[in-house]
Amino acid sequence: TESRHASRARFFVAELSQALFDFVIQLLPTAEEMAVKEDVRKLLERLIRTIEPDSRLLSFGSTANGFSLRNSDMDLCCLIDSEERLSSSDMVTMLGDLLERETKFHVKPLAHARIPIVKLSLDPSPGLPLGIACDIGFENRLALENTRLLMCYAMIDPTRVRTLVLFLKVWSKRRKINSPYSGTLSSYGYVLLVIYFLVHVKNPPVLPNLQQMPPMRPISQDDTHVGGYNTWFFDDIELLRQRWQSSNTESVAELCVFNLIDFFRYYSRDFSYNTGVASIRAGLLKKESKGWQNDLSSSKYNDARERNRFCIEDPFETDFNVSRCVTKEGLYLIRGEFMRASRVLAMRPRALTALAQLCEE
Ligand code: GTP
Ligand code: MG
Repeated sequence: TESRHASRARFFVAELSQALFDFVIQLLPTAEEMAVKEDVRKLLERLIRTIEPDSRLLSFGSTANGFSLRNSDMDLCCLIDSEERLSSSDMVTMLGDLLERETKFHVKPLAHARIPIVKLSLDPSPGLPLGIACDIGFENRLALENTRLLMCYAMIDPTRVRTLVLFLKVWSKRRKINSPYSGTLSSYGYVLLVIYFLVHVKNPPVLPNLQQMPPMRPISQDDTHVGGYNTWFFDDIELLRQRWQSSNTESVAELCVFNLIDFFRYYSRDFSYNTGVASIRAGLLKKESKGWQNDLSSSKYNDARERNRFCIEDPFETDFNVSRCVTKEGLYLIRGEFMRASRVLAMRPRALTALAQLCEE
């Protein structure tokens, strides 16, 4: 019976890994969608240059980091390479006016938001059946750097890392726990949880820690600091692919499934939500050591307490808690979903049933 048990387990893993790949592949953006988005970026860049000739419009977030799903929105960042430039909020106002005059986009300039942006959307049309949503921000160099870091992690082991991340993004959206505005976690937060897990929890690790590897050549402060934060990381991915042989020898297929099962188990049972901070830079940290504790005894700090229920350190902006928007109720929902997913997988249903059940809306 032992060998029967083992062969059933093997069958479960093989079948589920195949189903997982197939599921993720049909969610990837088409080449056509990527091309349309690139055209939109170029068009917007041309228009912005009529206001600021020395500007560049770069894409960040999922369109640039390899974790994009079909029809995900487009995050764009405008960098202006001249000394005397307009403030971000003036740029938002001017660009908003210009786009309203010159294009068919629906335009919403948020000049006075904490981070001023222009929000754009385009209605569905025959060539673009789902329309397009796009945010344009200014001078957000840290976001460009963290996008590059996530892209490098995705490239070290494209199949395993991307399959896991993309599946979790869809899962969290369908289960309605991917919404910082309503107290749950952003996609960026989930991606950091996956990388943290693959670098610091899996033993042996599936990914190296790119921020702690020895540099290949001396590095100067100027090249590596953005806004006072150290953004250096090992980014020679070609070299890394040759050198980094994870001592984790589970096969690609097995790893995807085991990673998924272990991921849900870790975040439903083992992660110390009350005292721990997940840091991809430094491993598990203590809230105390960052001054992020939730002091449940005092009501005076109601707001601060709410902001540190769940703690994920930004890879570069280390004083910034990426999950600061997660509320008590939000965390309860998220942990409930991790537990539910663990339960579903533990019953080893047939693969298609498992995926359908996991992502049930
Ligand atoms: P989808 O839009 O759901 O496809 O996911 P996404 O990968 O684009 O993630 P998201 O929209 O959550 O974030 C987009 C980018 O914004 C990230 O890659 C980061 O560069 C940046 N970003 C988002 N949230 C934060 C945050 O809280 N702090 C910082 N520093 N950057 C953030
Ligand atoms: Mg996005």
